[in-house]
Parts: sequence; C-alpha cells; structure tokens
Amino acid sequence: MSKMLSFTAPREAWLEGFSLPLLRWYDASARDLPWRREPEPYRVWVSEIMLQQTRVEAALPYFLRFMQRLPSLEALAEAPLDELYKLWEGLGYYSRVRNMQKAALILLEQYGGRFPRSVQELRSLPGIGEYTAGAILSIAFGLPVPAVDGNVLRVLSRAALSREDITQPAVKRTMTELAGRILPSARPGDFNQALMDLGSGVCRPRNPLCPSCPVREACSGYAAGEAESLPCRPPKKEKRLDKRTILLIVSPDGVLLHRRPEKGLLAGMWEYPGRDSWLSLPQVRALFPAANRISQLTDARHIFTHVEWHMRGYLIRTASFGCPEDCVWAGEEDVYALPSAFKTYTALLDRLRGSQTETISGR
Ligand code: ADE
Repeated sequence: MSKMLSFTAPREAWLEGFSLPLLRWYDASARDLPWRREPEPYRVWVSEIMLQQTRVEAALPYFLRFMQRLPSLEALAEAPLDELYKLWEGLGYYSRVRNMQKAALILLEQYGGRFPRSVQELRSLPGIGEYTAGAILSIAFGLPVPAVDGNVLRVLSRAALSREDITQPAVKRTMTELAGRILPSARPGDFNQALMDLGSGVCRPRNPLCPSCPVREACSGYAAGEAESLPCRPPKKEKRLDKRTILLIVSPDGVLLHRRPEKGLLAGMWEYPGRDSWLSLPQVRALFPAANRISQLTDARHIFTHVEWHMRGYLIRTASFGCPEDCVWAGEEDVYALPSAFKTYTALLDRLRGSQTETISGR
C-alpha cells in the first residue's frame, strides 16, 4: 500500500502515488468530449468558459451549436450581440459571452488571431483568469501549467488533508502551487482534465465514491476518514430576497422588452419590464388605465449567486403604444434572448402565442 501524501511530500512521491495512477485511470475512463478530440485553443477556450458554471452534460449541446455557428475567432468577433445571447440562452452569466467577444477582437487585432502562450498575456484578456489560462495552456498547448477550479481544489484538499479555509486566496495559492508541483511534465493537459473528471465524477462534494477512487491509497483525507467533510469553507451567507413585479405587456406589435442597464445583475440583457416591489392588481391597473385586459400570472422564483428574486407576474393586453426608452416591441419572429430568470413567464408567453384560444394560467 502506498504512503499517504501530505503537502510536503516530495514531487516523486506524489507522481508515483497520485499523478501517474490518476493518468492511468484517465486513460481507461476519460470522457470522450469534443474539445478533447480536437483541442484547438479556440475550442478549449469556449468549452472552459461554458464549463465555468455549467456541468459537462448540460454544456455539450451548447458547445456543439456554438462551434457550428461560430467556428472561429473571426466569426465570434463579428457576431451580433443578440445572436451571442441567443447561443448562450440558458447558460446564464451572460457577461461571459460578452467578454469572449471582446477577447476575440483583441486576439485578432493585437495577436494576429493566435492565442498567446503565457499566463500573463492570456490573463490580460477579458474573462480569462488563472484557471482558464492554465486550462488553455495545458490542454491546447501541452504546457505544464496547473488549472485549479473548484473541483480540483476539493480533490487536492482531500488528498493532502488540508483543513484550511479554501475561500482564502492564500490557501488557494498554496493548492495551486501543489497542483503545479505534482503535474507530470509529459501530459499536463490530460492530468488537469483527469483531476477535473475525478472531482466531478468520483471525488464529489457529497457522497464521494472513495471505494472506487483510483488514488484512494494515497489520499490522506480518506485515510483520516475526513474526505467528505473537506474542503473547509465558512458557512454560506444568506441570500438577499428581492420582490419583483414582472409585466408581460402584449400588444399587436408584440411583447414589450426592456434592456437592462450595462452594469449590475443581468447587465445589458433583455427583460420583461418590471418593478422592484410587488404591485397589486389595482396598482397595475392604475399603471395601464387603457389596457384591454389585465390578469395576474403565477408567481416565480429565481436564485442568483447572491440574490433570490421572488416574482409576481401580470399579463397586460393593450393597444399598441409608443415604445418607451430602452425598450422594443418584440414580435413572434424576432430573436431576443431572455435570461432564464424569466423562464416561467417566457413559457407562459410561448403558450399564449401558440394558442390564442387557450387562456394563460392566470389567477
Ligand atoms: N470542467 C472544466 N473543464 C473541463 C474539462 N476540460 N473537462 C472536464 N470537465 C471540465
């Protein structure tokens, strides 16, 4: 049986007890993913940005569609923003795709359309942080750079039995140093992806599958019976609850959409007009005295990273009126991506449009 590993164990001990067995496991069980088959920098970059907040299975169809429609930096740089939002619809965190377009323009204008091969230069691009730079350099260019995301932090905290608070930048730095030290120089991209696969499929946050882990014999967290309780982090802060009223204003010109401000939550995205409080039916009637019909819709909730929206919705059928500032009338054929925060109301609207005879789920 191999010796348990600690932070201070020599590189050779980590390679023998952890990194090489992990690579053997990866050779036998790696997932067959499109960016692994053809690990060009552009594809690796797009996949990594998508995978920042999304599971592999959920991201796959988005990745394939994105590549089909925007197969190159040039195509991405030239795409209309609304098309980018549409390709991203459902993935959330839309600033990611806006940053990608900005980075594509910089790569074309300043780097001759090629990805630079240094962490520093990659990190100077919008939306590329230390993790993404490491993933691109190791997976696409085979350079020995670690790529430490939340999954990898968990795996390493357990393997090295670190009880330190993982949200502390200094602790993350120590883990990243460890990841760099145990990286096999021959196959850094495979090793980084093996760590990611291990973290998502075996070394899971809850109910880790330690009995089938390829590196359990070297895992100090497992030996101490502490794997599942690691990594340590401070208790989560309560989310702020925001009351919102969502107004589905439908006229013969379409449904009214409003563009959100360029800063803050859902920056620059389209939304149904609304208010930052719950309005009663009489209050909505007072806002739209000329409406033909107003009905209250089902309530909905959406959970963001730091806030939770509690939404009350109204359907307002009205004659057309002049388009207010920062708004458009969106007809059925128009393509506007709406954040999934509004999906309950978008689904109601789709049903309403699908069948004019059906009554929308009102109250
Ligand atoms: N999560 C983030 N990047 C990944 C990758 N390249 N493979 C598997 N899971 C990932």
